[in-house]
Amino acid sequence: MTEKSSVNPLLEGLANRAMPEPCSVIIFGATGDLTHRKLVPALYNLAAGGDLPPGLSVVGFARREKTDEVFRADLEEAARKYSRQAINDDLWRNFASAIYYHRSEFGDHEGYRGLGEFLNRLDKDRGTRGNRLFYLSAGPDQFENILMNLKKSGLTEAPTGGWSRVIVEKPFGTDLPSAQRLNATVRNSFAEDSTFRIDHFLGKETAQNIMVLRFANSLFEHLWNHRYIDHVQITASEQLGIESRAGYYDGTGALRDMVQNHLLQLLCLIAMEPPTDLSADSIRDEKVKVLRSLRRISNDAVEKNVIRGQYAPGSINGQLVAGYLEEKNVNAGSVTETYVALRVLIDNWRWADVPFYVRVGKRLPKTCTEIGVHFKNAPSVLFNRDRHAVRDGSQNVLVIRIQPDEGVSLRMQSKVPGASVRIQPVKMDFRYGTSFGKASPEAYERLLLDAMAGDATLFARRDEVEEAWRFIDDIEEGWHSGTGSPGLFAYPAGSWGPTEADQLIENDGRAWRRL
Ligand code: BG6
Repeated sequence: MTEKSSVNPLLEGLANRAMPEPCSVIIFGATGDLTHRKLVPALYNLAAGGDLPPGLSVVGFARREKTDEVFRADLEEAARKYSRQAINDDLWRNFASAIYYHRSEFGDHEGYRGLGEFLNRLDKDRGTRGNRLFYLSAGPDQFENILMNLKKSGLTEAPTGGWSRVIVEKPFGTDLPSAQRLNATVRNSFAEDSTFRIDHFLGKETAQNIMVLRFANSLFEHLWNHRYIDHVQITASEQLGIESRAGYYDGTGALRDMVQNHLLQLLCLIAMEPPTDLSADSIRDEKVKVLRSLRRISNDAVEKNVIRGQYAPGSINGQLVAGYLEEKNVNAGSVTETYVALRVLIDNWRWADVPFYVRVGKRLPKTCTEIGVHFKNAPSVLFNRDRHAVRDGSQNVLVIRIQPDEGVSLRMQSKVPGASVRIQPVKMDFRYGTSFGKASPEAYERLLLDAMAGDATLFARRDEVEEAWRFIDDIEEGWHSGTGSPGLFAYPAGSWGPTEADQLIENDGRAWRRL
């Protein structure tokens, strides 16, 4: 698996794809964090790689008073901090000369009329041909306002020969009814094939590689079912706390922030059937089937299958850190979970009785996301005669490291050199860094480019989002309805979550992987 190859099939696909048509990218909420940390650095890196169409223009739409120059200077400062590649001064100057600032309230019709005129001018001056990619990166409470105004001002209809698309940032609703309302509002303004709902985990190189690993190799798919797989573990752990995001996070919590979207998407990629082809809809059809097959965890099952926790004061890398309740702007006595562990079952033929254990948390000892596919033990004969416990490290485990140290490893048993027969687990390891010799692009690079090209494969479809909320809403209801709702367990920052989460998996005779 460590064999060197000069071609990364994923990068190859990207490189061979036709360059998207010239367009304007209009970012609503352009003075926000996402634009500075992710979107503009991603666009700069695409420009540096020669992947952007000529004439590409970026228009920031926001409420604060700013000139183009001030906006560009703010973005440059952020790009120097957050860009994957170091900023080249000449390249930046050239790139930044196509960035503009448009000040307006989100509800001000005049502001949209002015935007329309400006975009028409860009079409003439920069050759953007009436192609518009609107990016909703403002607070979700503004989405409806923006979408309605785009429609009212005629901007959802592209000028002849052009296209008009929308990217919707997360959170896509806070429960099923709000997601359905938002879907209806979006549909009122943009067709489904012009709507791109972001789940940035899908843009991560390693997440894209899950399908390649499964369906471009003959080895795994034969074993990829309940006959050979004992269980699957999906972990997303972060050292960071909620930083300055209490306004969004408090009342949202780990289940809605991470599981409804990112982790269920990873689970779908692991569990889905092979699609009939690689079109966006064939792939998304298969993912929706998985979501529909998730066994619902309703009220009385919540306590047994879901554990939630909240970080208390503790230490990370030897530094004392505050508990969640001491974080700025968190409501006194908040019961928002910063950790959640779930036992999920998929009621279909392939996965009958194979538990998927999913855990996610903030202020954990390490930042990493990985999927562990644990195969059943070899029969208890010959070398395995004395191995009864499942948790003794004797299972073959295929580990897909989503981040950092992206790669795939396979744990197997080997004889320790020497006269006696001693057996020890060893790893076959594939690392992106060593095999391909270049850093993977950031998720937002791939996603922005795909949206410009009109490829929705790595974006969530309407029914996917709604099915995921259906599953999550049952758990939220179990937590918050009526009396005797299951507890919220404190865990010290810097620990691996509440001990009750260990119990969740240990009750099944298994243990969390040590990361
Ligand atoms: C975001 C969540 O969607 O994903 C954050 O809102 C989380 O809470 C982040 O920290 C994790 O993304 P990444 O790419 O840093 O692993």
